[in-house]
Amino acid sequence: MLITIPQVLDPAQVQAIRARLDAASWQDGRQTAGAQSQSVKRNQQLPVDGPDARALGEEILRALTQHPLFLSAALPLRILPPMFNRYETGETFGVHVDNAIRVSPLTQERLRADLSMTLFLSEPDEYDGGELVIEDHYGTQAVKLNAGDMVLYPSTSLHEVRPVTRGARVSSFFWLQSMIRSNEQRAMLFDMDQTIQALADRLNATDAEVVRLTGIYHNMIRMWSEV
Ligand code: NI
Repeated sequence: MLITIPQVLDPAQVQAIRARLDAASWQDGRQTAGAQSQSVKRNQQLPVDGPDARALGEEILRALTQHPLFLSAALPLRILPPMFNRYETGETFGVHVDNAIRVSPLTQERLRADLSMTLFLSEPDEYDGGELVIEDHYGTQAVKLNAGDMVLYPSTSLHEVRPVTRGARVSSFFWLQSMIRSNEQRAMLFDMDQTIQALADRLNATDAEVVRLTGIYHNMIRMWSEV
């Protein structure tokens, strides 16, 4: 299941991040690709442990971990530091699946990639092409979001970035390990949480059945989570 998280960053935050990224020095993206994806990857990345990536990554994580929809959808256990990439005309990242295990460049901690995230930092009218195309159970979906919006999708999905044919596409991308490993269980918990919140708005957060359902939600997390 693909989930769009709107407005992780507001326009002022996007503008400040873009100003720093546009002035940064980029390197060949193949340096961080796995063996299979190296042959299909043509883009530029910021050095992961450089000052720009670290400062901007921290800012993104601060915004994200305060975003209720993100927390509800991802149930994050550990999040890797955000990375940044840039595709100019002719650049692309062909069909691949992301590596299962990632090592944090900052802490050397290992993490299982359950969810992949792309946070768009260019407006859709700044470039042509560059759609993130994700194979989903419901078919193939082409994603191109407003700057500041993010898509969250299972790391088990085959995906690609179509060639950019005009302008430049800048984004942040990263991975997380969820407390809930199963995509199906996590999707069910997300649906349940959103339903409980809608019910609480319509009735009252102290309504007896809303409280009971909230208890069931937490007990399901207790049953399924790994922490
Ligand atoms: Ni990928």
